[in-house]
Amino acid sequence: MCGIVGIVGTEFNLKELVEDLQKLEYRGYDSAGVAFYDNGKISIQKSIGKIKNLKSKIPQKKTSIGIAHTRWATHGIPNDINAHPHTDCTGKIAIVHNGIIENYYELREMLKSKGHVFKSDTDTEVIAHLIEEHFKGDLYIAVLDAIKLLKGAYAIVVMHSDFSNMLVAARKGSPLVLGRGKEKVVLASDVTPILRYTKDVVFLEDGDVVLLKDGEYKITDLGGNVVLRKVYHIDWDETSAEKSGYKHFMLKEIMEEPEAIESALVGRVTLEGPVLNELKEFNVERVEKIKLVACGTSYHAGLVFKYFVEKHSNIDVEVDVASEFRYRNIHVDDNTFVIAISQSGETADTLESVRLVKRKGAKVISISNVVGSTITRESDVTVFMNAGPEIGVAATKTYVNQLIVLYILGMHLLRMKGIWNEELQRDFEFLKQAPEIFRKILNNIDLEEISSYYKNYHHFMYIGRGINYPTALEGALKLKEISYINATAYPAGELKHGPIALLDPTFPVFAIAPKDNLFEKTKSNIEESKARNSRIIAITNESNKELEKIVDDIIYVPDSPDDMYPLTISPVIQLFAYLIADMRGYDPDKPRNLAKSVTVE
Ligand code: F6R
Repeated sequence: MCGIVGIVGTEFNLKELVEDLQKLEYRGYDSAGVAFYDNGKISIQKSIGKIKNLKSKIPQKKTSIGIAHTRWATHGIPNDINAHPHTDCTGKIAIVHNGIIENYYELREMLKSKGHVFKSDTDTEVIAHLIEEHFKGDLYIAVLDAIKLLKGAYAIVVMHSDFSNMLVAARKGSPLVLGRGKEKVVLASDVTPILRYTKDVVFLEDGDVVLLKDGEYKITDLGGNVVLRKVYHIDWDETSAEKSGYKHFMLKEIMEEPEAIESALVGRVTLEGPVLNELKEFNVERVEKIKLVACGTSYHAGLVFKYFVEKHSNIDVEVDVASEFRYRNIHVDDNTFVIAISQSGETADTLESVRLVKRKGAKVISISNVVGSTITRESDVTVFMNAGPEIGVAATKTYVNQLIVLYILGMHLLRMKGIWNEELQRDFEFLKQAPEIFRKILNNIDLEEISSYYKNYHHFMYIGRGINYPTALEGALKLKEISYINATAYPAGELKHGPIALLDPTFPVFAIAPKDNLFEKTKSNIEESKARNSRIIAITNESNKELEKIVDDIIYVPDSPDDMYPLTISPVIQLFAYLIADMRGYDPDKPRNLAKSVTVE
């Protein structure tokens, strides 16, 4: 994981480079560093911790080349020595790297036997020494020769003190984006640092090597042959990648949900009904089985899709976490669709799952938020969720947009199979109103008092049934990942098979309990929990007053069609987790031990 930036061009202030790096801080933040061209030599500054620590060390200087890195440790503990950039023995080559070099130990031993002396415990330093070993005056050729020996994943940017106007970069398995501004060419792990220079970007592909020189760039394959890559125009506004006055990105991103939903619906809501033009080439009428694969929050969105599609059809939907799916013996036939959900489009296990089923001949539909990301290039078709950049590590608006896109996909599929009824029409009408409904929820909801009351508990039991069970899972994940409270989730009916033993006054139950067809059953489970003296907090819909006398605290959401409660309840569970994390003094944007895109297995 880790974020990298490289700039080459006319003289720029070093502060700019660090500001660009800050836009990637969500990718890792245990240490950071920069290297820059400094009158014929390379100067380096590093710092443990967040980028703000590095910022205070950066001299007021201008340079023509700079590379920068924010780290999420894989090899070697976070400290100044292991922070990137890394250099070779001579100190003339500096490199930043995102990924993992699997054969670093063998390479390190080989290089040591040739006299190389290593300073850090990282796999990355090996690459700097390998390039040194192959350097005969041409940096591009040295990089090309060195990376042919690497096994594993990398996005690298390399500079050499002999060249005041050149960077070389390469990608295999880790993301790297390129943009040419007026006076500079910029490389970064995602588009956000590039947007202030240009909105036209190139997503490098595996095996690409780039030479950036004199404001131009040349992309080649590993054989040195020039390759042409498509230039994508990114509509994101630069400021949409900043906090716009909110205390945290997470809060800003929750508040952006109405607009995000609007963007996800554009072109997909027609007079005839829900439409996904992306699936035109797919014979959707034929589908009998769907295998859906994803991780974390994206997996929870997949579970909602399962409940929705199976309720209205006889299509079997199997949902699996990617880290399990990819090691199973998966059976696919002509009537099986595979859907892979990944907001970042870079999650290693999800990508490997896509590769696995593609080898077996399956067609893959991916759902992603990031144009040009690896999953979008490797799947047969991508349905974009159009949520705009999400910087907070915890998925919020992208979860909501995953749900929107999955509902549309499900409805499109059902319609193509000739399945449509009044309930689905009501669901569809609700989706069209969703931006306004979300505005109403977000403008009116006040969870401060309730969050303040619950913030000191050490445990939470989330429960839900049917299509609201995934919401319980997602609520618990949000709470635990940013507030570090032990939150667990169960189907409400499972409580009595074990978890109920945990309940006592120190263990509150958070019930997702809208008045749907399973409400009476969930209500009984709430009563059972109450009998164990647990404090109960429940979310239900505003016209349902049946819980008022039973539960301790109640949060209302607008009445919605049964199928749609996962949507209307999402902002509530997100805000509750956000407020508790903030009140406990944690930074919800950068939860410990986590990173935004998980490019390791
Ligand atoms: C939790 C969260 C993660 C991601 C998971 C998959 O808030 O964000 O659980 O959902 O790492 O990420 P993507 O969707 O990028 O594949």
